[in-house]
Amino acid sequence: MNITLDDKFKKKLVESKNIVFFTGAGISAESGIPTFRGEEGIWKKFKPEELANFNAFIRNPDMVWEWYQYRRKIVNEAKPNPAHIAIAEFQKHFKQVSVVTQNVDNLHGRAGSKIIYELHGNIERNFCIKCKSFYTNENFTFTDKVPLCKCGGLIRPDVVWFGESLPMEIFNEAEKAAQWADLLFVVGTSAIVYPAAYIPMNAKQQGVTIVEINIDKTDLTSYADYSFFGKAGEVIPYILNEVINPKT
Ligand code: OAD
Ligand code: ZN
Repeated sequence: MNITLDDKFKKKLVESKNIVFFTGAGISAESGIPTFRGEEGIWKKFKPEELANFNAFIRNPDMVWEWYQYRRKIVNEAKPNPAHIAIAEFQKHFKQVSVVTQNVDNLHGRAGSKIIYELHGNIERNFCIKCKSFYTNENFTFTDKVPLCKCGGLIRPDVVWFGESLPMEIFNEAEKAAQWADLLFVVGTSAIVYPAAYIPMNAKQQGVTIVEINIDKTDLTSYADYSFFGKAGEVIPYILNEVINPKT
């Protein structure tokens, strides 16, 4: 990591009251959860349209369920990394800290973040497609076959699949939070999946200061006020340290 925080950034940081982190798969990469795109991206090995959509689930529920079992196992074994932990730490130093995440792994929650808008759902939850009853992962023994609800309906993970709409209320709240932020950190996302990617774009149009943290350039880089290239698990703790021990 080779970043420097200039005085203008440091001033903006310490004067901020309301901070929002918009995160994507890259923030969990250092926890051992593969990202979707990029060199190690999971979409290179699996075709998303074959797995992450409702029709695929109806056609072949066991196959889709098995793929989610595989992902649940990875997520279960993963732990929040220094990036998730530093974000939770930010709560001690600012009036309001919110997380808007595209991730379904619940690592922000496990790290202790309190306000979390999950745009794409949460892999720890499931629901029946017929009667909409909710089930946590502890509710049943996981076999490779898709479990059935008491009503006989298929149980699916509570995540947003291709072609499905985002939970509108959560999206609207997240969008408002981002537009009121003094600083919006955009961390570990390729920022190409819409409508989620509207959130930083719209915030930028409202004059919010955008700070990107990523190992590479993205579609958002040219809109960002600051870009810090490095691993989230190194850059965010470094910025937090500037909050705790300002060196001016
Ligand atoms: P992507 O896989 O598209 O992007 C991951 C980003 O993280 C890339 O820009 C990487 O450069 C960056 N990255 C990787 N490792 C990093 C690290 N250690 N520190 C910082 N950055 C790192 O993931 P998302 O943008 O989250 O949607 O993808 C968005 C959505 O596409 C997902 O939520 C999912 C997928 O389709 C649904 O499933 C609905
Ligand atoms: Zn049911």
